[in-house]
Amino acid sequence: MIIKPRTRGFICLTSHPEGTAQNIKNQIEYVKSKGKIANGPKKVLVIGASTGFGIASRISAAFGSDAATIGVFFEKPAAEGKPGTAGWYNTAAFEQEAHAAGLYAKSINGDAFSDEIKQQTIDLIKKDLGQVDLVVYSLASPRRTHPKTGVAYASVLKPIGETFTNKTVDFHTGVVSDISINPIENDEDITNTIAVMGGEDWKFWIEDLKAAGVLADGVKTVAYSYIGPKLTFPIYRNGTIGQAKNDLEATVPVLNNLLADINGVSYVSVNKALVTQSSSAIPVVPLYISLLFKVMKQKGIHEGTIEQMQRLFAERLYTNEPILLDAEGRIRVDDLEMREDVQEEVAKLWEQVTTENIEEISDIEGYRNDFFNLFGFNFDAIDYDAETNEVVQVSSIS
Ligand code: NAI
Ligand code: NA
Repeated sequence: MIIKPRTRGFICLTSHPEGTAQNIKNQIEYVKSKGKIANGPKKVLVIGASTGFGIASRISAAFGSDAATIGVFFEKPAAEGKPGTAGWYNTAAFEQEAHAAGLYAKSINGDAFSDEIKQQTIDLIKKDLGQVDLVVYSLASPRRTHPKTGVAYASVLKPIGETFTNKTVDFHTGVVSDISINPIENDEDITNTIAVMGGEDWKFWIEDLKAAGVLADGVKTVAYSYIGPKLTFPIYRNGTIGQAKNDLEATVPVLNNLLADINGVSYVSVNKALVTQSSSAIPVVPLYISLLFKVMKQKGIHEGTIEQMQRLFAERLYTNEPILLDAEGRIRVDDLEMREDVQEEVAKLWEQVTTENIEEISDIEGYRNDFFNLFGFNFDAIDYDAETNEVVQVSSIS
């Protein structure tokens, strides 16, 4: 079929198999260009492995450190004349490249929040790898069915306390407008969001993996968080999602305790704001990202997901020195985003930005390009008028 982008708001309904493969190849090339990560991970489980920071983590482990990888995610292959999801094609392309390089790579497609998928993952580790020495937790989801109670939780993106009014942009049209987001009406919005995006499921994974004996001595586990600038605090860090991130971060000492007898350690890494399927859903944030990219590109310090994850592995998680942590015990690869000079310039641009000047003073074009790249579009090397085979079979995905 001929596949063109079809968008609805911040969602792209179609994905291009060859374009997503190009995206994966570019990420692999980047990791290879940085050389091998000394003493990097060897057997890695990535939960949330198909898009965003998860696929970038998987690529960094495999191509930066020759790691065997198992990926868990929730994606759809092509069906009934509809292309598969970007994460499906990303994984197909990744596994093909990994296998060609002689690296072990298998994946499990299903609900990572469920006990069944955890058990299936444990069985696969036992059968093929014995144990893993790194567990990356990179899930982002709007809902979770609790495996013990069956209760279905939906997360919300709302401020707590007061209505939040600020600028936002429709990144397709470039129209900048004011948006007012009403605060939560009851604490259930907080508990629901924590149930979906907080640390409980990470803990369940580590408990189950440990009880099954599939965590190696000295195992590391890392999950991802975000802080960002004051201007997004009401909708992000001080909003419902921020409460879930607080909960995720508070899970670190719990896991450290659990892993102490096998010399394991857990970390939260605070990452940079980047264009992913998840972040494009948050109001206000895409406008901030567009301005941030402009400033960081001008200063020559811009990074995408793959640059972030390669740096996390090579310069934070796997060095011979003690891991650099902030006062709260977190890894910070948002260090360049949060630099004072960067934030000052973004804050100035924030005051100025309008529909009329956005193309000029922001990198909204870069935002759009990154967004379409997520779905395999906007790559020069791909002929989007040509027929492509949307059915991509992958025997290593179960
Ligand atoms: P993403 O949407 O690109 O990736 C989410 C992953 O989770 C995908 O692999 C998806 O298949 C998987 N997934 C979702 N629901 C699932 C389920 N029920 N079962 C199995 N797999 C499931 O998101 P992104 O942005 O890479 O986020 C990953 C983490 O990084 C999140 O914790 C997010 O908060 C954090 N983060 C994101 C930032 C950003 O700007 N995008 C910045 C800093 C942190
Ligand atoms: Na991810």
